[in-house]
Amino acid sequence: MCGIIGYVGPKNVVPVLLDGLKRLEYRGYDSAGVAFLQQGALQIYRSVGKIKDLENTLWGKDLAGDIGVGHTRWATHGRPSEANAHPHVDCTGELVVVHNGIIENYVPLKEKLIAEGHRFTSETDTEVIAHLIEQYLEGDLEAAVRRALREVAGAYAIAVLWRGDPDRLVGARCSSPLVVGIGEGEFLVASDIPALLSHTRNVLFLEDQEIAVISREGVTVTTMEGDPIQRPATQISWSPVLVEKGGYKHFMLKEIHEQPRAIRETLLGRYSLEAGEIYLDGMEAVAEILPVLQRVVLVACGTSWHAALVGKFLLEELCRVPVEVDYSSEFRYRELILGSDTLVLTISQSGETLDTLVALREAKRRGCRVVSIVNVVGSSIARESDGVCYTHAGPEIGVASTKAFTAQLTALYLLALYLGRRRGVLDASRVQELLPPLLRLPQLAEETIRCDQVVERLSHLYSQHTDFLFLGRGINYPVALEGALKLKEVSYIHAEGYPAGEMKHGPIALIDARMPVVILAPQDRTHPKILANIQEVKARGGVVIAVGTAGDPELRALVDHCITIPATTPHLTPILMVMPLQLLAYHIAVRKGCDVDQPRNLAKSVTVE
Ligand code: AGP
Repeated sequence: MCGIIGYVGPKNVVPVLLDGLKRLEYRGYDSAGVAFLQQGALQIYRSVGKIKDLENTLWGKDLAGDIGVGHTRWATHGRPSEANAHPHVDCTGELVVVHNGIIENYVPLKEKLIAEGHRFTSETDTEVIAHLIEQYLEGDLEAAVRRALREVAGAYAIAVLWRGDPDRLVGARCSSPLVVGIGEGEFLVASDIPALLSHTRNVLFLEDQEIAVISREGVTVTTMEGDPIQRPATQISWSPVLVEKGGYKHFMLKEIHEQPRAIRETLLGRYSLEAGEIYLDGMEAVAEILPVLQRVVLVACGTSWHAALVGKFLLEELCRVPVEVDYSSEFRYRELILGSDTLVLTISQSGETLDTLVALREAKRRGCRVVSIVNVVGSSIARESDGVCYTHAGPEIGVASTKAFTAQLTALYLLALYLGRRRGVLDASRVQELLPPLLRLPQLAEETIRCDQVVERLSHLYSQHTDFLFLGRGINYPVALEGALKLKEVSYIHAEGYPAGEMKHGPIALIDARMPVVILAPQDRTHPKILANIQEVKARGGVVIAVGTAGDPELRALVDHCITIPATTPHLTPILMVMPLQLLAYHIAVRKGCDVDQPRNLAKSVTVE
């Protein structure tokens, strides 16, 4: 998630911009920049790396100015570089834009603008906005922004500064947040409240398809059609620490609740329901191997390995190709039978897990094509892969992976459809059938996460237990493993994930009232068997916490506690099933007073072997 700050007022603008960007650092970024007006001239400074690198660039420069914009970039399109850092300019160099979001249709827009003579200097989707505004600029900046945004599809929050209108900034939003700060003779726009608090606690939240114009005189808000909007300001009472977490107590909880948006943004621009097609850029390597593809090997660690286990079901069922799954740390010690007919797919949130990076290099050394599902643009694994499918989950701050996992499953589903189409296993009409449930997923995820309070109450009953068993069948067995890992990681309680069918081959000896059993029981073809497993646990005095499909009275009658998820297809059930487990782990850990965001002994990215 990028960070945006804009300021107009009596203060010297550059320190205001840098302070605002520092308060947005938690959003994660890989480059930063500022632009401001100085005696009528537009000054622009950008740098790769952190804000301190930008400050080094600014050192010794004349930084006087009273209006400007700043940006921290979390790369989505185009690697981290100075050229790709924001602010981006138009051809005249007199107009700058900073942007947070994803412009779905930037490729055709860029082609059209280049054909009309515009010169681009970056690989980003954002730059098309600067040239579009330039295209329509005839003295009225607000009108030009309005016309430009009518051509844009996707998610955006922007701030625009033009030398020709030196007293005003124009902001606009669609799906990405933008907040207006209302001070005394000074006004700001920002991606999030933390950047405003040192100037004002009086804020105004923009809604989708709204445009704000700020000047020293005040702020006006209008619809995309130009109709004025009167909206009262909100007084922010949060502490700065709480504000950084968006009002949530921990980043982990914030990121659990961000999953609908992470799924939505991972889907953005990658499908056509009308055509029954999937579009994944950066997959040329796959096209080359498809004619001879005999096998896919998935390689990952931890939560990403659990995603790989789900991916096996998706790829085998939707692409009809044999799939193996291996821990990265084990992959390199096997006498691997790999060749040019094998596609190796690595999965990594950080893109820096050394075990996975080494496995990737081993696979390439043996002549395999390697494609990766990664969350961090420009990370080592991304750079060394032949192709990358990025999850657009935004930076994941909590050590326990949550939104990255569900974004990985979303990307795996897209990849399975993509490969199925290109292998001729799925025709367009079948993809048209499979897409609607996927597109409903963000809404279903919103509904699923509403179980938060139910799960919090449940955590009061089970936070003192010392052992848990998580059971699932089929595509949900990996979710049982993930639920156990989440609980282990953040609450330090021993937890095991097991295939429910394996219980009778050993684990059933553990069952008694002291060990809660969490059972994943969706209404799919495993349902009757899962109900039998529940009865086996209950017959031995066990306690069952079930996660089931809404409207399943048979399940509810059998168990001690039942958390429900909305119905969806079996392939997509894991994405919803995991959310109550994430919340259970989180709330138990909070009740135990654990350091939820930075659990003991753990690192967010394991860059050692
Ligand atoms: C997950 O909650 C853990 N933090 C850990 O297992 C993690 O998934 C693993 O280290 C792999 O990290 P990666 O996805 O960044 O490669």
